[in-house]
Amino acid sequence: EFFAPKQAVLQNQTVLVTAGPTKEKLDPVRYFTNRSSGKMGYALAEQAALLGANVILISGTDRLPIPQDVTWIHVESAEDMYKEVMKHSVGADIIIKSAAVADYRPKQMFDSKIKKSADRIMIEMEKTTDILYELGKRKKDQFLVGFAAETNHVEEYAREKLTRKNADMIVANNVTLEGAGFEGNTNIVTIYHKDGSAKELPIMSKADIAKEILMEIASQMGEWQT
Ligand code: CTP
Ligand code: CA
Repeated sequence: EFFAPKQAVLQNQTVLVTAGPTKEKLDPVRYFTNRSSGKMGYALAEQAALLGANVILISGTDRLPIPQDVTWIHVESAEDMYKEVMKHSVGADIIIKSAAVADYRPKQMFDSKIKKSADRIMIEMEKTTDILYELGKRKKDQFLVGFAAETNHVEEYAREKLTRKNADMIVANNVTLEGAGFEGNTNIVTIYHKDGSAKELPIMSKADIAKEILMEIASQMGEWQT
């Protein structure tokens, strides 16, 4: 019997993956976060390692098993993630930003627990740094992949992000669909390319979607380097 050797299409490639939510502290006992589980990013990190890549996984969650042969860095806030991504992006050939980075953080972090005294309180929020946008600005010969979690106008918003953030690919999902989105083990995504083409995938496991995304990246990079 003939067995094909394990595919190593990402051999010698360094892949940086971000995954999970960020946590934005309000006081020592409270934070703002979102429903991202990190499963899609972890699947990407795991599959990239299986395809032969050197993988760095910058994670906002510590609740998932760490994939084998992956360098794992745990972060909490969007600011932490930004710093770690900038530190490790230098040597990365491929950067996949699947993390659900908080868009806003409390403007003020209270040193002690906010006590329940007033009938209502106002919490002022300020914008976080858009990590993907910053990567897109600095990008030279890297392949940059963003995600877009949308509830409506999926294609329009995904294409807008592709252009504005100078990404090479956007993986969009409609989080309102059954079988797509946050905690589940499946997802329904469409991959949007810079050249205007798109690839709509049926409902699949996050592991299979990760493989598809990585094969799309490898094929695009092949075309782009020749
Ligand atoms: N992203 C990021 N830094 C942020 C916010 C988002 O790097 N502060 C990245 C995400 O990791 C994702 C992409 O940008 O790869 C798109 O994130 P998304 O939340 O869909 O888009 P936003 O630009 O934040 O716009 P909006 O939330 O208004 O749709
Ligand atoms: Ca956002």
